[in-house]
Amino acid sequence: MNRRIGYGLAAVEGFLCWVVVGFSQENMTHVDNKVFPNPQRPAAVFQHEQHNEAAKIEDCGECHHVYKDGKKVENETSEDRRCSDCHGLKDKGAQPGLTKAFHLNCKGCHEKSGKGPIMCGQCHVK
Ligand code: HEC
Ligand code: HEC
Ligand code: HEC
Ligand code: HEC
Repeated sequence: MNRRIGYGLAAVEGFLCWVVVGFSQENMTHVDNKVFPNPQRPAAVFQHEQHNEAAKIEDCGECHHVYKDGKKVENETSEDRRCSDCHGLKDKGAQPGLTKAFHLNCKGCHEKSGKGPIMCGQCHVK
């Protein structure tokens, strides 16, 4: 292999590793809000691993769900996709728009279980 190409590839691999590690759920501290064209609030605090451990959520599909014909499919999950891959900014039939989807999911469970924050500033921490 040509040496220069070799170095080039090594650099690309290094970069890819950094990207993969940098964006894995283990290092997640906030829910990315870049998909919103003009965010009104600071990105919501969400330490993926610590949160799910403390909240004792074992089923990834609790959040990363898959629906078929309006029914949640048990034992199927969608953690390989962003919420925004399916949820547009606006509601679409029974499918809530993105802001509503997050609020229903996050706040919904906190309200139901009586645990976890429900005030704006507790999630959207300045
Ligand atoms: C349980 C946590 C939680 C609470 C409580 C909460 N939010 Fe959110 N909110 C989120 C998440 C997660 C998102 C998705 C993007 C992000 O990280 O901001 C979001 C997105 C949004 C967005 C769209 C993105 C933006 O910044 O424009 C708005 C507006 C918003 N929230 C306003 C509010 C307001 C107002 C309240 C209080 C009435 C509130 N939120 C309470 C978690 C929460
Ligand atoms: C309480 C809700 C919740 C649970 C439970 C949950 N996740 Fe997530 N996860 C999220 C949110 C929110 C995101 C960010 C999605 C987005 O930005 O569209 C995310 C992102 C991810 C990502 C992508 C990371 C990135 O930054 O791109 C992976 C991988 C992931 N989760 C894996 C898992 C696995 C595996 C499980 C089960 C062991 C799980 N999640 C359980 C809410 C959850
Ligand atoms: C593969 C596509 C897909 C992905 C990815 C996805 N959703 Fe959904 N979601 C749907 C569909 C379809 C519906 C409508 C279900 C129905 O017909 O009632 C839905 C419904 C919902 C609902 C309302 C019903 C309920 O379960 O409470 C919430 C809240 C929601 N999604 C939040 C999220 C969040 C948060 C994420 C990311 C962690 C996410 N969704 C990822 C497809 C998806
Ligand atoms: C299925 C239930 C459930 C869902 C879904 C859920 N949470 Fe929670 N959350 C909890 C519980 C339970 C706690 C309290 C855990 C404890 O006892 O420390 C909590 C605590 C928190 C806390 C405070 C503790 C911490 O980790 O900083 C934040 C912030 C939070 N949740 C944000 C979110 C956001 C943002 C989402 C949506 C992306 C979300 N939660 C979705 C159940 C849930």
